[in-house]
Amino acid sequence: MTMTEVSSGEAPLGFHTFARMVHDTIGVCLPEGKRGMIEARLSARVRALGLRDSQDYFRLLFAEGGLRGEMAHIEETVTTNKTDFFREVDHFNYLKDVILGGGLWRNRAGTFKAWSAASSSGAESYSMAMLFAEHAIAYPDFSWGVLGTDISGRVLEHARRAIYSNNLLEPVPEPLRNRYLHQGQNEWSGKSRIVPALRSRVKFQKLNLMNHDYDVDFNLDIIFLRNVLIYFDPDDQMAVLRKVGRHLAPGGHLFVGHSESMVVRMPNFRQVAPAIYRKDI
Ligand SMILES: C[S@@+](CC[C@H](N)C(=O)[O-])C[C@H]1O[C@@H](n2cnc3c(N)ncnc32)[C@H](O)[C@@H]1O
Repeated sequence: MTMTEVSSGEAPLGFHTFARMVHDTIGVCLPEGKRGMIEARLSARVRALGLRDSQDYFRLLFAEGGLRGEMAHIEETVTTNKTDFFREVDHFNYLKDVILGGGLWRNRAGTFKAWSAASSSGAESYSMAMLFAEHAIAYPDFSWGVLGTDISGRVLEHARRAIYSNNLLEPVPEPLRNRYLHQGQNEWSGKSRIVPALRSRVKFQKLNLMNHDYDVDFNLDIIFLRNVLIYFDPDDQMAVLRKVGRHLAPGGHLFVGHSESMVVRMPNFRQVAPAIYRKDI
């Protein structure tokens, strides 16, 4: 069947089938209340394929082979990518004052590694990176790296480009803005780019948290898994937390969103501050 030859007269495979498939593959829950939003987001794709409406689109998806080629579009459609620099600033203060300032980083022989496990367009990864780079000025033997991962290819592209509008960069403290951002000129005015010295230590790769396992280093020092569990159901929240937690070194720290902290119930993790957990040594 081609994209435009959608047969009619079949059993309707509508939003609920779509929502079940999204739940099983991406983890994101789409209750009936989100139907309008999702159908609105799909409308450009429906038009681009020459289809009449989302019903035709769902029928196309569930025809043999129909999902192939559409998953990337679906990942963009069902994810919410809102993020900010220094979002939930208590977490960055804890990282700066307790983990770096308090000397916990010295437990690590070798490179100090952090993972932003639902990085969106990179604000979280670069916020951490600025703190690590500052720390390295005072302690030149401090070596560090950050990995950002997300399911959305679009936000990962943005993260790698590392160009942000100045409005979004407002939460970045001024001394850090001066050191780690290049102001755009002419057609780039109103935007800034993260400096190369920071970009070279922050890598991004695509990763679906629903995968059985993750192609990410073990023995990490810091994991930020923030504002993504809220989209998953309780079983998937627990499963993702368990898988993510395996990648943390003993004594490493896990950060979840402030609204997600009640989800963390793992016996080998101790809460040390709101929505921050330390893995037992
Ligand atoms: C609201 S943003 C949170 C960004 C950042 N952690 C923060 O707190 O500002 C949620 C991100 O989770 C990503 N996401 C959703 N489901 C995912 C999955 N199954 N695997 C990986 N990332 C996922 C989305 O693409 C989105 O960029």
